[in-house]
Amino acid sequence: MDKIVVLDFGSQYSHLICRRIRELNIYCELVPYNTPAEKIKDLEPKGIIFSGGPASVYSKNSPKPDYEIFELGVPILGICYGHQIIVDHFNGKIKRVLNREYGNALLTIMDKTNLFKDIGSSGLKCWMSHSDAAEVLPKGFEVLGKTSSSFSAAIGNNDKKIFGLQFHPEVAHTEKGDKVLFNFAYEISKANPEWSMSNFIETSVNDIQKKVKNEKVLCAVSGGIDSTTCAILIHRAIKDNLTCVFVDNGLLRENERENVAEIFKEKLGIPLRIIDARERFLKGLGGLNDPEQKRKKVGEEFARVFTEFAENEGPFQWLAQGTLYPDVIESGVSGGPATVIKTHHNVGGLPEWLHLKILEPLRYLYKDEVRNMARIMGVPPDLLTRHPFPGPGLAVRIVGEASQEKINVVRQASHIVEEVLVEDNLYDKVWQAFAIVGDDKAVGILGDERIFGHIVSIRVVESVDAMTADWSRLPFSTLEKISSKITNEIENVTWVTYAISSKPPSTIEPQ
Ligand code: XMP
Repeated sequence: MDKIVVLDFGSQYSHLICRRIRELNIYCELVPYNTPAEKIKDLEPKGIIFSGGPASVYSKNSPKPDYEIFELGVPILGICYGHQIIVDHFNGKIKRVLNREYGNALLTIMDKTNLFKDIGSSGLKCWMSHSDAAEVLPKGFEVLGKTSSSFSAAIGNNDKKIFGLQFHPEVAHTEKGDKVLFNFAYEISKANPEWSMSNFIETSVNDIQKKVKNEKVLCAVSGGIDSTTCAILIHRAIKDNLTCVFVDNGLLRENERENVAEIFKEKLGIPLRIIDARERFLKGLGGLNDPEQKRKKVGEEFARVFTEFAENEGPFQWLAQGTLYPDVIESGVSGGPATVIKTHHNVGGLPEWLHLKILEPLRYLYKDEVRNMARIMGVPPDLLTRHPFPGPGLAVRIVGEASQEKINVVRQASHIVEEVLVEDNLYDKVWQAFAIVGDDKAVGILGDERIFGHIVSIRVVESVDAMTADWSRLPFSTLEKISSKITNEIENVTWVTYAISSKPPSTIEPQ
């Protein structure tokens, strides 16, 4: 399949370039900036893009590519810092701009190449973020576009097929930026738009069959979208040689085990082994108050349960994980070319002596691509829109010891929160919505009786990526409904409060 390779010089937008190209149905991979030219040649890219980056080309230790890359005869597009690498390499000159140019600029296009084909010559709003700019262009390069403060905002050497853009075509603020990327990939690099999810599913199924042959694969599923999609894909490839396991740790959402069992058996037709480990987890958590200790305990217990299963029901040769692309890639600048494989949160680190080979069929995909794949492969819509749920489950929503009583309270209360949000048409508008319980109690009245019951806190947040989050300004009527349902329906809860702290300084989960 034709592909474009992006060299990552540390820009916060490197992944975005990759995603934009894939949105144009052209396959794209992100590699560290210092990947040897030989290795890049082996990838057989149709075109290469240098990302932006925070460094300055003249500073000591600034990231530089393997310059042999310019000899591969593959078209190159440099963006921002990548543009300056090109100017510097071909003996042009870069200067420091005193006032960092940041924000929108109007690009006048003078291009006679195909980079700006069908874009028109009137001003194009483009987004800048740089402190260096080309002062003298290298020989053989011409100006393709300028802005009021940058005479060389777009440059190119059409014979060598090497281009540089001072602005960022990958961000939404650049008008027709995707068209510029498309022109580079399709018109200049001649990469055909062959990347589609249905194609990818087919190729992945073939790859899995070739890799796994007749061996056995073990896959832990959590009911979340990544592990479910991973399981469907592998099942499609190797059918009964896949064993899916779901561990009920007693810290799950209301009816979760039943729901997952139904989805797998009834809707997806994939056999699922369910391990009831509720007692073990509860016992393990006994007496633990510290959040980190609780998390660790859940992880350890999971590894133990899973290992026992693998030993008793095996032998298995493969362990399947739903690792995604951003987990696999380590941004080039600080980390170099190392590939990091995240120990999946929910697997919690499995002992190496199990000697399982790792199968990660989603390792080239972004989250939205996994969602798309899941949709195509028949994952039920409510699972696609389900809020994320942490691996250690309700244990991180309980302050202090996770006793059975507190687990019951938090589970029922969270269910009520979700139920009311669905009723009020708010569930899909928020990132997560749940209840929290600790050891604080407050006096209440039940009939004529004074009772001393739990204080339950409600946490509803809005977020795009969970890195930051804001508390949701829910209507008072919704809050009121949640509160009265909780105190009416859950025994021993007297007060309901609403958490109005944002992240930062708080986190989403309280523990
Ligand atoms: P925090 O609490 O760090 O959470 O603001 C950010 C996002 O990550 C989820 N989360 C976890 N997910 N295992 C997981 O799989 C965990 O240990 C874990 N801790 C937090 C959390 O629900 C939120 O979406």
